[in-house]
Amino acid sequence: MKYQRLFLIILTTFILSLGASEAKKAIEKRIAPVGSVCVEGEECAKAVVTTVASSASGIRSGEEVYNNACATCHSIGLAGAPKFADLASWGSRPDEGIEHLTEQVKNGLNGMPPMGMCMDCADEELTAAVQYMLDSL
Ligand code: HEC
Repeated sequence: MKYQRLFLIILTTFILSLGASEAKKAIEKRIAPVGSVCVEGEECAKAVVTTVASSASGIRSGEEVYNNACATCHSIGLAGAPKFADLASWGSRPDEGIEHLTEQVKNGLNGMPPMGMCMDCADEELTAAVQYMLDSL
């Protein structure tokens, strides 16, 4: 009887320690990706930096910006938007000059929300999109 209890205690301790080491393994597995993050200067760190840099400096063309953000309204004249390749709908707007027109897009104008809904557009991307639209006329 005495030995049986002792055996039970040993068995329980053993099981508990097994459980603990399993839990430790699980935790180690979970934090492994963090531990394997590249140190600056290593090959993989360079790859990450290159991706970020190229997307940050990669200026989209006027056509890309137009298609992604502006076409929704300007292809069909939604909410009274001057239409792409439709000079009549633009009226005297082209005379206002590219800078003024781009400024209007940046600030928003009546039915047009600020930035023409291209929230991550750089100034030169908006200008390129406006130029692309003017070139279509
Ligand atoms: C939600 C619809 C919508 C989107 C998206 C939109 N526009 Fe417009 N845009 C309009 C409307 C409506 C007008 C006419 C505003 C007015 O004159 O009352 C307008 C006017 C303009 C004008 C003439 C501004 C002026 O001074 O008369 C330009 C240029 C222009 N948009 C360029 C763009 C560009 C570039 C984009 C994309 C980056 C864009 N728009 C996205 C609705 C939109």
